[in-house]
Amino acid sequence: MNLNVLVLPGDGIGTEVTREAVRVLERVAAKWKHTLQLREALLGGIAIHRTGGPFPDDTRALALEADAVLMGAVGLPEFDNWPPEKRPERGLLGIRKAMGVFANLRPVRSYKALLDSSPLKNELIDGVDLIIVRELNGGIYYGTPRGIFEDGPEPRGVNTMVYTASEIERVTRMAFELARNRRKKVTSVDKSNVLETSQLWRRVATEVGKQYPDVALDHLLVDNCAMQLVLNPKRFDVLVMENMFGDILSDEGAVLAGSIGMLPSASIGAKKPSGAWTGLYEPVHGSAPDIAGQNKANPFGAIGSVAAMLEYSFGLKEEAEAVNRAMESVLNSGRVTADLRPAGTPATTQQAGEAVCQAI
Ligand code: IPM
Ligand code: MN
Repeated sequence: MNLNVLVLPGDGIGTEVTREAVRVLERVAAKWKHTLQLREALLGGIAIHRTGGPFPDDTRALALEADAVLMGAVGLPEFDNWPPEKRPERGLLGIRKAMGVFANLRPVRSYKALLDSSPLKNELIDGVDLIIVRELNGGIYYGTPRGIFEDGPEPRGVNTMVYTASEIERVTRMAFELARNRRKKVTSVDKSNVLETSQLWRRVATEVGKQYPDVALDHLLVDNCAMQLVLNPKRFDVLVMENMFGDILSDEGAVLAGSIGMLPSASIGAKKPSGAWTGLYEPVHGSAPDIAGQNKANPFGAIGSVAAMLEYSFGLKEEAEAVNRAMESVLNSGRVTADLRPAGTPATTQQAGEAVCQAI
C-alpha cells in the first residue's frame, strides 16, 4: 500500500516525539512492504517564525492532499501574551477545521505495567478501557461573536458556545458506532441543567440513541463526570461531549493512564471514496516547553497516534495491533521515559522509540 503522510512536528517536544513516531511508521512500512511517502510542513509557533502565521497556505494544501496527517504539538511560551487569533494554537484549530475532522477520539486505558505510575489506587484503574469522543469543529472554540471589546465603559471578553443539531448528530453517531464494537455503552456528557446548547445536545443524543437499541445510553452532567472519572472510571465505555468539555476531561483521563504522555488521539472527518477516514493524528499532550529539547519526552502518545492512523486511515489492522503490542512489551520491559517513573534509569525519547521499533 502507498502511505502518503504529512508530518507536522510543530513546537517544543512535538519535534522529538514525532521523530520517534515516524521511526515507527518507517519500521512498519519496511516490515509489511508499504511505500511511505512522507512530507513535512510547518504548523504553530515555528510557522509563525518562518512565515508570519501559524497555519501557512502550503500546510493547508499539503494537509488536504495527504492520505493522513501526523501532528506533534503546538505552542511556545514566547507567544503567551499574544491575542488568540495570532497564537500557535490557532494553527491547530485552523487545520482541524480545514480538514473537517469533527470527532476527536481519545482512548484511555490502563496498562498493568503502569498501575503504579498513576497517583490513583491500583484497584480503581486496573482494567480501565474507555474512549472520549470529543467534538472538534464547533462549540466555544469557534463560536462567534468572540473577542475582547473595548467600546464600552470597560473591556468585555466574549466567547460563544454554539451547536447545530447536525453537528451534534454526526459526532454522537460516531460514538454509537464505536460503542457497537466495544462494550455497547455510551455516556453523553453535558451541562443541560444550565446551558441551552447542552439541552439540545441531550435531545439529539437521545434521538440518535434510538437508532442504536443495542447500545445503552446514559447522560451525565460534566461536573459529575469529572468526579466519576476518578471515583469509578471502569463504569465508562464511550463518552461523547462538546469540544471544551472534551479538552478538559481528556487531560483528567490522562491520570488514569499514568501520564499524559501516553495518550494518543485520532481526529476523524468524513469517509473518503476509498473507504478510508480523513484523519489527523495527534498526541493529547502539549508542547511541554519545560522539557523540550532534552530527549526525555514520552513518545508513546505520538506512537499510539501512528497506530490509530494505520487502523483508521489505512485500514491496516494487523500493523496497528503490532505497534500497540510493541508499545505494551516495551512498557513491560520498563525501558520507559521519566514521566512514567521507572525503577531504573529512565529511557530517552529516542531509546523508547527505538525499543518499540525493535519489538515490532
Ligand atoms: C488539545 C490541546 C489543544 C486544544 C490546544 C493546543 C489548542 O489542548 O489538543 O487538547 O485545546 O484543543
Ligand atoms: Mn488539551
